[in-house]
Amino acid sequence: MAQTTLISRAQIDQRVAEMGKQITADLQGTEAIALCVLKGAVFFCTDLMRQIGMDMALDFIQVSSYGNEKYSSGVVTILKEPMLEMRGKAVLIVEDIIDSGLSMREVHRYIEGRGAEVVKTATFLDKPAARKVDFKADYVGFSIDPQFVIGYGLDFAEKYRNLPDVQVLTD
Ligand code: PRP
Repeated sequence: MAQTTLISRAQIDQRVAEMGKQITADLQGTEAIALCVLKGAVFFCTDLMRQIGMDMALDFIQVSSYGNEKYSSGVVTILKEPMLEMRGKAVLIVEDIIDSGLSMREVHRYIEGRGAEVVKTATFLDKPAARKVDFKADYVGFSIDPQFVIGYGLDFAEKYRNLPDVQVLTD
């Protein structure tokens, strides 16, 4: 398998800093929670939070989407629920990538159901061409073509998450 760099560490740092500034401007004055969607978003979330110039709580959610080729039912199950009270808060859902849109749609619905006053979504990567359901994130790091990417939290069979940049995996 071959790997080529798609997004460099310098590009990541610059874009994450820009996103942090924008989010700070938008959420200033709210009681905010960053909700990191495990596991891939951990890397992006910690970098992003350090670029946000206001106090922000941190919580985690984990979802699993079951959609193999034969049963692409699009069912998303919540594996780990957040611990913090969401009622009346501004919740920023932080994802590493949006593909079909199913995970983000489900997490968004779930957090609205928990009574959050404001729900915003930030994704490091967006693959708009892979959507099965319509979903637009409020903050997008990079929009990419539908190719298999690894690194900066993104895995292939649990490998490569700790690569510092984003690479494309090809045969
Ligand atoms: C990936 C990614 C998103 C989701 C995006 O998670 O982190 O949560 O898939 O895909 P979707 O838009 O088609 O729903 P994955 O299930 O691979 O878990 P991981 O983050 O633990 O690797």
